[in-house]
Amino acid sequence: MQNAGINELGLEWRYLAFDVHPLHLREAILGAKVMKFIGLNLTVPHKLLAVDMVDALDESALTFGAVNTVRFEAKDENGEWQPLRHFEGDVPEVVRSHGFNTDADALGRALREGLKLDLPRSRVLLLGAGGAGRAAALKLASERVHELYLVNRTAQKAEGVAKEIRERFPQVNVVLGYPKETVDLVLNATSLGLKPEDELPFDAKQFALDRTKSVYDMIYRPAETRLLMAAKEAGCAVANGLGMLLYQGAAALELWTGQQAPLAVMKQALEQEVYGGGSKVAATFGR
Ligand SMILES: NC(=O)c1ccc[n+]([C@@H]2O[C@H](COP(=O)([O-])OP(=O)(O)OC[C@H]3O[C@@H](n4cnc5c(N)ncnc54)[C@H](OP(=O)(O)O)[C@@H]3O)[C@@H](O)[C@H]2O)c1
Repeated sequence: MQNAGINELGLEWRYLAFDVHPLHLREAILGAKVMKFIGLNLTVPHKLLAVDMVDALDESALTFGAVNTVRFEAKDENGEWQPLRHFEGDVPEVVRSHGFNTDADALGRALREGLKLDLPRSRVLLLGAGGAGRAAALKLASERVHELYLVNRTAQKAEGVAKEIRERFPQVNVVLGYPKETVDLVLNATSLGLKPEDELPFDAKQFALDRTKSVYDMIYRPAETRLLMAAKEAGCAVANGLGMLLYQGAAALELWTGQQAPLAVMKQALEQEVYGGGSKVAATFGR
C-alpha cells in the first residue's frame, strides 16, 4: 500500500518492514532518526511504548495515548520544524522525532464513509477494550457519540475505559453492558473472528443483531467474519477493518510527504496484498 502510494507520487523512497523487539524500540527510533529516515509506522505493542520515546507528540498522539506514525523533522531557515522531505537531500544534523496517531481518525473516516454514520447522533455498542477497543472508545467519545455501550470479556478493562471517558469526555453517556434498545452501530474491536472457529464476539442471550443498523468489524482478514455474515443476514449495513487500515496509512503518507495520498492506488495495492486480488473485497468498504 505505502510503496504503491510512494511510486504513484514519483518519490524515490522505499517503505520497509523491520522486526524490532520492544526492548530495542528506543534504539530503533533513534537509529532511524540519525540515519535521517523520512518516518516510521509502528504496530502493536510499540504504539503505546513510543509515546515516551519520541521528541515531540502531536495532539492526536496525546489524545489517544498511542503513536502509530513518526515523522522525522529538522529546522528550516526560519527555525520552524519541517518534515525531512522539505530539505531535498541537504538535511541539517539536528533532527527530531515527532509522534502522531492516525489510527483513530482512520476509524472515524471508515465509519463515516463505509457505513454513512453520523457519529454525533449515534448510539454505539463497542465490543472489546484492548488497545484497539480503548482507542476506538476514545475516538467515539471525542466525536461526541450520543450513547456508548462498552462490553469486554475482562469487565475491569471496560470499567477502566469507561472511567477514562467520564473524566475526559463528561458530555458522553457511557454505559457498561448491553443496550436494552436499538443502536446504530456495533463495533467489534475484539480479536474474536480472526479464526474460523471463533464464536460471535457478543452474548446472544443479551443482544441480537436485529437490534443494530450497522456492524463494523475491525478485523479485515478474513474479509467476512462470522459476525459480518450474521449481520448481513440480519439486514445490517456492514464493513470490515480494511478501510481503517487504508485510511491510517494514507494519513501517514500525507504527514511524510505533505501531499494528498493517492487513495485509489493504495486501496488497490492493499486489497491485492490482503486478499490476493480475489473476489473477497466486496464487503470491505461497506455499502
Ligand atoms: N483494521 C485495523 O486497522 C485494525 C487496527 C488495530 C486492531 N485491529 C484488530 O482489532 C482487534 C483487537 O486488536 P487489539 O490490538 O486491541 O488487541 P488486544 O489489545 O490484544 O485486545 C484484544 C481484545 O479482544 C478480546 N478477546 C480476545 N480473545 C477473546 C475471547 N476469546 N473472548 C472474548 N474476548 C476476547 C480481549 O478481551 P480481554 O480484555 O478480556 O482480553 C480484548 O478486548 C484485532 O482483531 C486486530 O486485528 C484492526
